Amino acid sequence: MCGIFGVTKDKNAPQTILSGLKRLEYRGYDSWGIVVKGKSRLNLEKHTGKISGSKTVLDQSDFGIGHTRWATHGGVTDANAHPHLDCTGHLAVVHNGIIDNWQELQKKIKGHKLKSQTDSEIAAHLIEKELTKKNDLFTAFTKVFSQIHGYNALIAIHQDFPYLVAGKTGSPLVIGIKKGNNLIASDVSSLLPITQDVVFLEDGQLAKVSADKVEIYSTKTNKKIPLKISHISWSAKEADKGKFPHFMLKEIREQPKIISEIKKSKTYEVDHLAKQIKTADSTFVVACGTAAYAALSGQYFFSRIAKHQINPAIGSEFFYHSDFLGPKSLCIALSQSGETIDTLQSVQHAKHKKAKVVSLVNVPGSSLSRLSDQTILLDAGPEKAVASTKAFLAKVTLLLLTAYTLSGERQKAISDLSKAEKAIKDLFASEYTKRLKKLVNAIYKKEDLFVLGRGQSYPSALEIALKIKEVSYIHAEGLPAGELKHGPIALIEKGTPCIILDPGDETSSDVLSSAMEVKARGSYVIGISIKDNPVFDSWLPIKKAGEATVFPMIVVGQLLAYYLALARGFDPDMPRNLAKSVTVK
Ligand code: AGP
Repeated sequence: MCGIFGVTKDKNAPQTILSGLKRLEYRGYDSWGIVVKGKSRLNLEKHTGKISGSKTVLDQSDFGIGHTRWATHGGVTDANAHPHLDCTGHLAVVHNGIIDNWQELQKKIKGHKLKSQTDSEIAAHLIEKELTKKNDLFTAFTKVFSQIHGYNALIAIHQDFPYLVAGKTGSPLVIGIKKGNNLIASDVSSLLPITQDVVFLEDGQLAKVSADKVEIYSTKTNKKIPLKISHISWSAKEADKGKFPHFMLKEIREQPKIISEIKKSKTYEVDHLAKQIKTADSTFVVACGTAAYAALSGQYFFSRIAKHQINPAIGSEFFYHSDFLGPKSLCIALSQSGETIDTLQSVQHAKHKKAKVVSLVNVPGSSLSRLSDQTILLDAGPEKAVASTKAFLAKVTLLLLTAYTLSGERQKAISDLSKAEKAIKDLFASEYTKRLKKLVNAIYKKEDLFVLGRGQSYPSALEIALKIKEVSYIHAEGLPAGELKHGPIALIEKGTPCIILDPGDETSSDVLSSAMEVKARGSYVIGISIKDNPVFDSWLPIKKAGEATVFPMIVVGQLLAYYLALARGFDPDMPRNLAKSVTVK
């Protein structure tokens, strides 16, 4: 889940690459490095730690590649940072993914001096070996890439060749089309300040990228493939933090506008999806992490509103319990990045079973959208904070709209969503922020926390707990409130914070009983609810919005997570050990 950025003729390549890597840092921030062409050999710079605030010490150059790492193979050290040089120092590679057969390949480079503990460096020495057989860089790379197994994106640069070579299987790679300085990167948003015209490299393709020419070849036929240039509508400004201290806060604040846009602009797609769900024998909504909680929310919406069953499935588990899939099955895949390997593999499995695949994706042109029979773009704009917020709400907005459309009550959806937009905007008032910060002050030293919800609020409890875990590192557990008595209540002791989700629906009295039960064991009870209640030690009010009342509830949870991270001194945008899109298994 690393970030790769390369330029072919840039007047200040080291600086441009460094800026590109900064825009990719949400993909991995353990270490970073840049290599550029020098007078007689490649010049390399690499460091452990985040890029933010870093300067490059490399001399002027116009040609190079860089990498920001999320460690998979080999610890977080300067030596394991990418790029990796070969023995001659004239060739370097950067890599995103895992070389599954690295041990076997390592046997082929006996005598080469490896400087790191990574699988990636082996590729550099294999290419070096092929180059000694009088091959040019592209041929040498092609031979080596065909030997590599696993999900990988690999790029090589050589002092003596005027082009970059890239190969892709699984991990994303995008070529930026810019006359006189074509580029290559791991995602579109990092290219936006330079170009909005891109070519998405497909699996099993190789690219030869020079300043004035981009050539794509098939690894199977070695034949040239015509370029398919896409124009990305996102602007560089959208991918920027603007006046906000963090992307997470910016993206939380964008949610009312996104709900309003989806409400107005997705009528055709939602009608079509509702028809597909109606006619399918069975519908499965497959996703991972936060996206999986959106799928679970969808199950409650469809049952409550449309009296229709849809089945949420966790991407990394779907393969093991989906033997019943067939041509009449509908598989809906949810993903912000469209690059999550477990979701991609679930979709490949569903396609293998001849099921129809519709994906709800945020990143245009992503692998998932290219793999699906049909794609509905979330249009939430670039989401840079690792903890997903606006993309989650965009997914549940689409699922709520589709459930109401299926039950023929679209106007009710519009009314609920309009109320939700207003209820969310109310949460951004400075008074509310004060209220949140006062609560955070009372609980930020706690290491354990529970979030309890029933019915439609249960998926929200899971999502709020995940946000708190991701950015504040408090061990927050989301639970169906009814399950508390069956074990987890043993963990409640004096002062343990318990968040009670009460949307003022048929679950209220039962979830308040759970509040009483934890209170009786000394818990510090926090209510995110329509009405205050004596059992609450702290109350975070939300306004009612029909079936969309969980929307403001979730946003309160997002804000709580954000301010807890700040109070505990952590960077909410780049939490430890995480990366924005999970492209390795
Ligand atoms: C959410 O905050 C996390 N970043 C993570 O759980 C994420 O939702 C999951 O990896 C799925 O990502 P996707 O939506 O890009 O497929």
